[in-house]
Amino acid sequence: MEKDTLVFQLIKKEYERQLHGIELIASENFVSNQVLEAMGSCLTNKYAEGLPGRRYYGGCQVVDEVEQLAIDRIKKLFNAEWVNVQPHSGAQANAAVMLAVLKPGDTFLGLDLSHGGHLSHGSPVNSSGILYRPVAYTLNPDTEQVDYDKLEEIALRERPKLIIAGASAYSRDWDYERMRQVAEKVGALLMADIAHPAGLIARGLLNHPFPYCHIVTTTTHKTLRGPRGGLVMMGKDFENPWGLTTPKGEIKMMSQVLDMAVFPGIQGGPLEHVIAAKAVSFGEALSDSYLEYIKQVKKNAAMMAQCFIDKGYKVVSNGTDNHSMLIDLRTKFPEITGKMVENVLVRADITLNKNMVPFDSRTPFTTSGVRVGTPAITTRGVKEDIIGQVVELIDEVIMHIEDEKVIGRVREKVNAIMNGYPLFAY
Ligand SMILES: Cc1ncc(COP(=O)(O)O)c(C=O)c1O
Repeated sequence: MEKDTLVFQLIKKEYERQLHGIELIASENFVSNQVLEAMGSCLTNKYAEGLPGRRYYGGCQVVDEVEQLAIDRIKKLFNAEWVNVQPHSGAQANAAVMLAVLKPGDTFLGLDLSHGGHLSHGSPVNSSGILYRPVAYTLNPDTEQVDYDKLEEIALRERPKLIIAGASAYSRDWDYERMRQVAEKVGALLMADIAHPAGLIARGLLNHPFPYCHIVTTTTHKTLRGPRGGLVMMGKDFENPWGLTTPKGEIKMMSQVLDMAVFPGIQGGPLEHVIAAKAVSFGEALSDSYLEYIKQVKKNAAMMAQCFIDKGYKVVSNGTDNHSMLIDLRTKFPEITGKMVENVLVRADITLNKNMVPFDSRTPFTTSGVRVGTPAITTRGVKEDIIGQVVELIDEVIMHIEDEKVIGRVREKVNAIMNGYPLFAY
């Protein structure tokens, strides 16, 4: 077959973009060569509906071993008793949990989207907001951290069946113990979506959601540095609290309900090539070198927050506990929007994303802030000594937002810096 030069030229072009730029999108990372290799393998050819040892198709003896390896490694990484490694993405993992524990119209609590929550935690345009009844809890306006007292008040009033901890744009740790107390008071299940800080949690750098959270979901491609995908986990399996049944009778355990919610509930055949890549990345995440890496991610983020503060920017909640932070542009540049900053920085080969800040006066399409994170540049080998320079370059571009000469000069500096930091071999 003839090589599809059109597609492969575009892939090369994207590789060059990744190679030369400073990547600060908090939800992105660079996987290893062996993760890439597993993803591009012949496992993509295999249908394997079902679970290891219980498939709907023949010829699954090898993918059974692959999937079991992924399960065993992730159980070890998070000290989990049960895991489903099949969700195609984080949003799928969340949709599966909701399908398992909620009925249409049931109430659940999630962090307000404009305060850092995720679309799959109750946006009116996501199935979570279309099928169920989301109620939002918020941040305290003074601390810009989760207001747990208010959360309790809302839970007592609304009697949700599910409470979700976790966010897309929140730089502080979570008090899972406190949230479990609230959940107990109202008879709700507690779920943590650790999509962003999963790697830091896995290696003990943040509070662990187990044993407080009944169910945990995550993506595998952010701080965890695996292929794009999702997971559903439980620290300890428990009896199906709602007495859910199938035509064959009652389902005893929550693990069975969750397995069925992933498949056939919301998905078809699992992506065994991606599951193989997940297994590889989980093996990596258990290594000493990953521990060093994830500690550096956190150190780089702390340094970056301090550098922004030193340059007169407002960092939401005045700092970070994890890999990310939100910069509220209104303090230093009241006229400049997150959208403008995102766009101008792309021209300087620096990538980050516009983001609402708590109590934002602008819309999600313009925003008053940007979100920044250190997982990707840390994978490239960047340490604290370069972070000050990176912040300086960002500041220079924002200060000269319409000056093409300055933008061009910064781009050259960015490319020169990143020349010194390798990316996977193409
Ligand atoms: C907290 C949280 N949950 C879920 C997701 C969704 O993950 P995916 O894009 O893999 O569906 C994200 C993605 O950014 C996220 O931040």
